[in-house]
Amino acid sequence: MKALVLAGGKGTRLRPLTYTMPKQLVPVANKPILHFVMAQVADAGLSDVGVIVAPETGDAIRASLGDGSRWGLRITYIVQEQPAGLAHAVKTAAPFLGTDPFLMFLGDNLVQGGVGELVEEFAGAGEDAALLLKEVVDPRAFGVAVLDGGGRVTRLVEKPRDPPSNLALVGVYVFSPRVHEAISRIAPSWRGELEITDAIQELIALGGKVRARILEGWWLDTGKKDDLLEANRVVLDHYACRYIAGEVGGESQVVGRVEVGEGACIRRSVVRGPAVIGRGAYLEDCFVGPFTAVGDGSKLRGVSIEHSVVLDSCELCDVGPIEDSLIGRSVRVVRANSRHRALRLFLGDEAEVAV
Ligand code: G1P
Repeated sequence: MKALVLAGGKGTRLRPLTYTMPKQLVPVANKPILHFVMAQVADAGLSDVGVIVAPETGDAIRASLGDGSRWGLRITYIVQEQPAGLAHAVKTAAPFLGTDPFLMFLGDNLVQGGVGELVEEFAGAGEDAALLLKEVVDPRAFGVAVLDGGGRVTRLVEKPRDPPSNLALVGVYVFSPRVHEAISRIAPSWRGELEITDAIQELIALGGKVRARILEGWWLDTGKKDDLLEANRVVLDHYACRYIAGEVGGESQVVGRVEVGEGACIRRSVVRGPAVIGRGAYLEDCFVGPFTAVGDGSKLRGVSIEHSVVLDSCELCDVGPIEDSLIGRSVRVVRANSRHRALRLFLGDEAEVAV
């Protein structure tokens, strides 16, 4: 079985970060989301991986993943010229996929426990597709599936106004090569995309067997700011360990599961885990609260911050308290010495500030 990891798209819901980096490389707990995905593909026992990239972001993804050997994978990069839908991505990858069954995994989604069981069950069952579903409170932002009593999928709808069930399609699917025929028969949806949901519906119409597995653990779709903060929280909660490689000064307290990267330096500060402080980061007179990730080389002085993600090479000085924030690379936030407390802003397009 092969794997197809989708790392294209424009990431419009994560602007302005995604003006300069693909959404799949935005880090949670200081590690790009896509790296978690690659590790889960490898854990499922697959090694031959196609990675779909967009022309604009392909180089950044290539630089980050390399040839995949770090995970024991062999990566083939496939450029999708237009973000014309998930089924279009499969169509673009058809020469790579050939007649093999394949796991398809959206590169901005994380699932607890990985995808090994879905892959294993599929291998023995003679099905045409297996889908991972998750019960959600509001399924209107997702593809939604309807099941019969025996766990077979009977109907799928993409982003329904009136959802026929509360079972959302997590971005993890396994397909037999029959899916290609189904894709060749569908037309673009109202949003102009060839939808994988429509392709699976077509597969059912062709007599294909489509089974679902309901995910009990967490599912993190990191496409928006608040989702990304939630992903950071959950990942730190589950995976953070206490590992102190950097220097922690005597007047500092580092409490609980905190990772302090090499070359980092903490002075007169409190860091309460779960949290991660990147390599070469510098904290002075700070309080860093739970569920915070500070990127490599970022410098924080006189800052109180929690439940936030600060990417690499930032400078934050005498500001805060900061919470629920997502701060891009090389951002500078400093106190203005203005008596009338005016804000002095220099923000990129589509930045968001709440004061
Ligand atoms: C896509 C799929 C949708 C699925 C979702 C999971 O949506 O079309 O069926 O539920 O991923 O993240 P999109 O991210 O394109 O809005």
